[in-house]
Amino acid sequence: MADAALELRRVGRTYRSEAGALPVLTGADLVLVPGEIVALVAPSGSGKSTLLHLAGLLEKPDSGKVFVRGRDAGALADRERTAIRRDSIGFVYQFHHLLGEFTALENVVLPQMIAGTSKREAQARARKLLGAFGLAARESHLPGKLSGGEQQRVAIARALANAPAVLLADEPTGNLDVATAGIVFEELLATVRTHGVAALIATHNPDLAARMDRTVTLRDGRVVPL
Ligand SMILES: Nc1ncnc2c1ncn2[C@@H]1O[C@H](COP(=O)(O)OP(=O)(O)OP(=O)(O)O)[C@@H](O)[C@H]1O
Ligand SMILES: [Mg+2]
Repeated sequence: MADAALELRRVGRTYRSEAGALPVLTGADLVLVPGEIVALVAPSGSGKSTLLHLAGLLEKPDSGKVFVRGRDAGALADRERTAIRRDSIGFVYQFHHLLGEFTALENVVLPQMIAGTSKREAQARARKLLGAFGLAARESHLPGKLSGGEQQRVAIARALANAPAVLLADEPTGNLDVATAGIVFEELLATVRTHGVAALIATHNPDLAARMDRTVTLRDGRVVPL
């Protein structure tokens, strides 16, 4: 689709080990248009993280294609894939992967500076994002000195730092209590809707899924509506 922010076309991924071949994705199709927020709800081990990693160009599929803003990622040089990841995709990992030796603020500033934003501008945006996620008083904390939920909120702020066209989030509120998850999620939705981001968010929380535009699941390695 020409105006899709993200498209997976017949994507296949099989993990191979001594134990044999494990087909996780067997021809997954998915289209996300700008401004659309889709919940990915599927049982543990069904391939949600695998799908998100492929969509985020963190891994390559064995078969099929991934298009980001109409560009076939499989046809690009590594350098171009990296540029798309940096400029067009925000990724919130299931396990947050913050840089431990940098403060919360620096974790949100760095990806912007790598993308060419000035330090002053990057800091201003980072403060705004951290403030929106209730972390104004935690800017100078190292990740190790933040609670699990706070780390997760920093990771969400970081994923949004470069105003991505596509946001991929792997259970972004998994470590949060119900009330905080609701607040963080509301803020995430508001940011995504304001900026017309296309978002795919894996969650086990049916209340959060219900607040998104539609829900898909994985069945036998394919994406189907739920
Ligand atoms: N690198 C790997 N090598 C071999 N098998 C893998 C690898 N990564 C994932 N798997 C297997 O692929 C399947 C899908 O894993 P994936 O992490 O995508 O599931 P998930 O839906 O994200 O689960 P969860 O809800 O528990 O996070 C699992 O059975 C897992 O054991
Ligand atoms: Mg997972």
